[in-house]
Amino acid sequence: MSRQPILELPNQLISQIAAGEVIERPSAVVKELLENAVDANASQIEIRLEDGGTSRIVVSDDGVGIPAAELSLALTRHATSKIRSLEDLESVRTMGFRGEALASIASVSRTIFTSRTLHDEHAWEIDSAHQKVQPAAGDIGSRVDVADLFFNTPARRKFLKSHATELGHCIEAIKRVALANPQTSFAIWHNGKALHRWIAADLNRRATDILGPEFEAAKLAVQSGNALIQLTGFIGAPTASRARADQQYIFINQRFVKDKLINHAIRSAYQDVLHGDRQPILLLCLTINPELVDVNVHPAKIEVRFRDSRAVHQFVFHTIQDRLAHGAGQGEASLPTLENLVPPTTQFKQLEKLIAPQSQSHAPFYSQNQRLPLPMSGSVKDSMQQLFSTPNTTLNPVQSSYSEMPQENDQPLGQAIAQLAGIYILAQNQRGIVLVDMHAAHERVLYEKYKSDLNTAVVTQQLLVPVVLNASRIEISTLNEYHSSLIQLGFDISELGPEQLVIRSLPALMSKSDPAQLIRQLLLDLEQLGSSATINAAQHEKLASKACHAAVRAHRLLTIPEMNALLRQMEQTDRADQCNHGRPTWIQLSVADLDKLFLRGR
Ligand SMILES: Nc1ncnc2c1ncn2[C@@H]1O[C@H](COP(=O)(O)OP(=O)(O)OP(=O)(O)O)[C@@H](O)[C@H]1O
Ligand SMILES: [Mg+2]
Repeated sequence: MSRQPILELPNQLISQIAAGEVIERPSAVVKELLENAVDANASQIEIRLEDGGTSRIVVSDDGVGIPAAELSLALTRHATSKIRSLEDLESVRTMGFRGEALASIASVSRTIFTSRTLHDEHAWEIDSAHQKVQPAAGDIGSRVDVADLFFNTPARRKFLKSHATELGHCIEAIKRVALANPQTSFAIWHNGKALHRWIAADLNRRATDILGPEFEAAKLAVQSGNALIQLTGFIGAPTASRARADQQYIFINQRFVKDKLINHAIRSAYQDVLHGDRQPILLLCLTINPELVDVNVHPAKIEVRFRDSRAVHQFVFHTIQDRLAHGAGQGEASLPTLENLVPPTTQFKQLEKLIAPQSQSHAPFYSQNQRLPLPMSGSVKDSMQQLFSTPNTTLNPVQSSYSEMPQENDQPLGQAIAQLAGIYILAQNQRGIVLVDMHAAHERVLYEKYKSDLNTAVVTQQLLVPVVLNASRIEISTLNEYHSSLIQLGFDISELGPEQLVIRSLPALMSKSDPAQLIRQLLLDLEQLGSSATINAAQHEKLASKACHAAVRAHRLLTIPEMNALLRQMEQTDRADQCNHGRPTWIQLSVADLDKLFLRGR
C-alpha cells in the first residue's frame, strides 16, 4: 500500500468516532441526556420515545437551562461547564465532565437543543443541522430533541435491535437514573402512550415504584459508614434470590456502575447464605468522598477505580455480611412466609391469599450477637394479649394449652410434636405451629458450627515435599505483607528469593487442592482485594458439602427429644433461617392463619 499523507480529521468525524465509544444505542442517548438534566438540577424530567428511541428521543427538564450565548458551545466537543482544571476532575461531583456527550449525539443524529434560563424572556434553540441559534417557544429548562439516530452512520444503524428491545434498554437506563435520584419526578412516554410516572419520593418509595412489590417484600435496609464512605439502600433476603442478576442496582456517588470489586465484596458476603448460581436483589448506594474514587476510567463512566480498593472491599463486605447475619429471624421481611414459598400457580393459591403476610407479626429469633431474649414486637404482643383476654379462648382446649408452654422468648421455635413424612418437624409455639425442614435446618446448624470451629482452631497439613514456586515480585511483596495472617490461617509459605517462594503447609481443609494454583489465586486476591475469595470460597465449598453429608437425612426417624434439640440448636445459630442454598429452613403458621384456613370467626 502506498503511503498516504498525514492529515487532521474533520471535527464532525472526530465526534463520530467519539460517539462510537459512548453512543452505542438509543439507551445511551437517554442516559447522557438524563445525566445532563440531573446535573442541571431538574426536579421534573419527561422522556418521550418513538420506536424504541430509534426514531426519536425527546428529554425535557425544568433545570437551570443554557443562555443563548452558550448554546452553540453546548454542542461543541470538549466544551463543558462542569470542570475547569485537573483538580476539579479529581473531585468531580457531577455526572458529566468530558464535555462531549452532546457533540457526539449531534454528530450521529438530527439534534435540536432548546433552552431557557430564569433570565430569558423566551427560549432559544440550536439545530445541529445548520448550527444557527434562533428564538423558540419553551419554558424554563431544556428540551433536547434527538431524531433519526445513526441516520448518517449506516453501519451503526444495522446493529440496532427490534424497537421492543431498544425500548427495553431505554427503560433500563431511565430506571437506573431514577433510582439514583428519587427526589426527581420522571414521566416516560412511548409512541404517544404514557408508560411510567414516578413522582418525587424517598429511596424506599422509589424502589418500590420501580422494582415492584416483590422487592418491597424481600428487602433488608442497610445503613453504615463514616465521614468518608457510606453504604445505604436495601439488600434482598436470601430467600428472595433470583436466577438472574437482573435486579441489582449499585450506585457510586449516584452513578450506576458495574464494578468488579463491589460485586466481589457482595458475593463474598452472601456466600454463606446463597448458593453460587442464585442472585440476590440489590439496591445499594455507596457514597464516597469523590477524591477517593476515579470516575474517569471508562468512556461511558460505568466503571470506577478506588484509591484504596481494599478498604472499600472490606467495608462493603462487612456491612452486608453483618446485615445478613443480624437479619436472621429479626428483619421484617427476611422471614420465610408462605407467600414466598408457594409458587403462585399451584393449588395453594387460595391458601396464599388467605394467609396474610406474616412479616410484621413474626416472633423475634436469636442470633449469635443477640443472646439476650428480645422484646416482643408490638404487634405480637397485641395479638397475644387479645388471644388471652377474649373470654372464649379459655373454652378452647388447644389455645388454653399454650399458656402452659414456656415463654416464647426462651424458645421461639416452640416444642416438637411430631415428624411429618420423614422430612418435616411439626412444632407448636405460642403463636401457632412451626414447620421445619429437618435436613436443611441441621445442615445449616452444622455448617455454622464447622465455620466457627474453623475460626478457632486451624488444623494444618504438612506437605510431603515442599513446593517451590516461581513468583512475580508483586506476589512476593503481597506474601510478605500478609505473612502473619497467612500463618494464622494455616499456610506456611515463605520467600525463597526475590522471585521464588516455598509452600510447606496448607490448612487441612484445603490440602487436596493443587498448592501452586491455590497460592497464586490467593496472592492475587490478597493483592487486589485485601481479602481472599479463594480461602472463603474453597472453605465454603468444603464446609457446605461436609455439613450436607453429616446432616440428618430425610426419612430418618427422630425422637421428640432429638427434634427439640435441633430446634434449640437452630435458635442458637446465626443465619438459621435459610439453608446453605438460600432456601428457608422453617415457616410459621399463626393461630390466626389457621383460623383463616378454616374460615373461623366469620
Ligand atoms: N439539560 C441541560 N440543562 C442545562 N445545561 C445543559 C443540559 N445539557 C447540557 N448542558 C450543558 O451543556 C454542556 C455540554 O453537555 P455534555 O453532555 O456534552 O457535556 P458534559 O455533561 O459537560 O460532559 P459529558 O460529556 O461527560 O456528559 C454541559 O456542560 C452543560 O453545561
Ligand atoms: Mg453530559
